[in-house]
Amino acid sequence: MNLESKLVWMNGELVPQEKAVVPFLTPALHYGTAVFEGMRAYGTPQGPAIFRLKDHVTRLFSSARIFGFLELPWTEEQVIAGSKAVVRENGFIECYVRPLIFAASGHMGLNLLGITPGLGIAAWEWKGFVSPEAEAKGLRANVSSFTRHHPNVMMTKSKLAGNYGNSVLARTESARLGFDEAIMLDPTGLVAEGTGENLFVVRKNVIYTPHRTMVLEGLTRDSVITIARDFGLEVREEPLTRDQLYVADELFVCGTAAEVLGIRELDFRPIGTGSRGPITAKLAEAFRRAVTGGEKKYLDWLDYCKAIVAP
Ligand SMILES: Cc1ncc(COP(=O)(O)O)c(C=O)c1O
Repeated sequence: MNLESKLVWMNGELVPQEKAVVPFLTPALHYGTAVFEGMRAYGTPQGPAIFRLKDHVTRLFSSARIFGFLELPWTEEQVIAGSKAVVRENGFIECYVRPLIFAASGHMGLNLLGITPGLGIAAWEWKGFVSPEAEAKGLRANVSSFTRHHPNVMMTKSKLAGNYGNSVLARTESARLGFDEAIMLDPTGLVAEGTGENLFVVRKNVIYTPHRTMVLEGLTRDSVITIARDFGLEVREEPLTRDQLYVADELFVCGTAAEVLGIRELDFRPIGTGSRGPITAKLAEAFRRAVTGGEKKYLDWLDYCKAIVAP
């Protein structure tokens, strides 16, 4: 059983979880009119820290602007402080942190004018995104029969709750077929991303990933690109086709929930040696060190939840 927040930050104050509830006639519940973030706190030598907190909160406000929540009664600083408070006051060391801005009240029409937004921040312990075996050896994945969003249908740069119907279709189909994850193609037929992760290909020691145009600008993606380039590896952002995935030496996905996970098989074709590849393993381990405060170079990515007292 996962441990959930006993205290939830609702509209500016921490309240007990049972008070952090919304009425049935909440517009967001009916139309997916909410934007959210997924962040993680990790245990570090300086106590729990949220990885790339400021960047996540900036993306939350960008998602709101893209969707059209134009006047919000909170600042980014308040959401940053609220996120740290949720981790700290619930006594979490490692947890997933979820801020959500939602259409809370006003009317039940399909129009954001006259809607009052609400903002909640909760956290929960989320261990084991995949089985230890899949983590060590890599995932088995399929290319989804569902297409990723066209960027002028649903905004792919916004973590809009309604967007995730598409991910749920793909992930459910994938699970029913017996796979661990689905890879989605964009409306032109090029490779886009996973259902909640960005995708990378390794071929002849060069790392490739689709350009940012059609996908969510993942913060793990950005961190992995930085780490890979710091290792002296070449990273190219360019269009990728489905068959390029089949002949990759290594494939991996990355995201806040998944971290860095190899793909060992795609559409029944073994990828590379059919196990997690060496570059994927190196990046996954370096990413783990970065999020847990083990790499001096990346300490700026950590926002500590407790005040740091000088020794
Ligand atoms: C569709 C999609 N792509 C990519 C990602 C990875 O983004 P991040 O690394 O910022 O978690 C996510 C997760 O937020 C996602 O939902």
